[in-house]
Amino acid sequence: MAGLMEIRSAIVTGAASGIGLATTTTLLEAGWQVAGFDRDGNALAAAMQNLSAYHGRVRLHPLDITDEAASKAAISEIMDGFGPLRGVVTSAGIASNTSFFDTTPDLMRRMNDVNVIGSFLTARIAAETMRDNGGGAIVLIASVSGLVGNRGRTAYGASKGAIVNLTRIMAVELAAHRIRVNAIAPGPIDTAMARQVHSAKVRAEWCDKVPMGRYGTPNEVAQAARFLLDEQQSGYITGQILAVDGGFSIAGLNGGDETA
Ligand code: NAI
Repeated sequence: MAGLMEIRSAIVTGAASGIGLATTTTLLEAGWQVAGFDRDGNALAAAMQNLSAYHGRVRLHPLDITDEAASKAAISEIMDGFGPLRGVVTSAGIASNTSFFDTTPDLMRRMNDVNVIGSFLTARIAAETMRDNGGGAIVLIASVSGLVGNRGRTAYGASKGAIVNLTRIMAVELAAHRIRVNAIAPGPIDTAMARQVHSAKVRAEWCDKVPMGRYGTPNEVAQAARFLLDEQQSGYITGQILAVDGGFSIAGLNGGDETA
């Protein structure tokens, strides 16, 4: 069992923006050391300015998560001198709102390259380290679009559906190595990605379909990730898909009703 005073370290991908940035901040607040990766170097530099209070416990590094060799090099370089790797959150991802007939093989490939293969690569490289150093926890960021058939999500939803079952498979295989693997399926979260993909009409539809009637915040997803990484709080939870979605994925009839 890890000593109480051990300073744990975590890897966060997509750390420059949205859910990844909020997760980085939340983990730093909870005392973790955080190695954050993102392909957007300028956004990383801006994020670093805002995280200067955590100087020494946070390292941010440009990385394209689809590049295996660069990922291996960056992860081993950045972890040097940090405490044992105990957590990974794969938030880097891309989205598209494209109808089935407009979805090209190229879009399918790009989406899967980043969302599936990129997340898998980060998780595998990190899991090798955790396997050899006392275990840890992985949180993959999926989406409610990987749970239900949302219109316009042929490429995106298929990639997130793959993440959902990858989570279960990894949980089963890695349990013996003391690595827990869970996923978060966010509903609509107010980030740069959502602002880019959701028109005003789509925004209104989400607010209508989400029982809580609003978008979530990046921090609300980050708090769930912190919980799922924390051995003390979620030590017997693995293979689960936690929807952070204001009730979207469990809702049936919702609205236009006299009982409200
Ligand atoms: P965001 O666009 O604010 O942040 C995503 C970050 O990933 C960006 O900083 C981007 O530069 C980085 N990134 C993209 N491709 C990369 C690559 N190949 N290598 C390294 N970094 C890369 O988006 P947001 O909303 O924070 O999304 C984070 C995750 O949450 C994504 O996986 C997304 O699919 C998922 N999600 C978001 C929802 C939302 O409504 N915002 C809903 C459900 C899931």
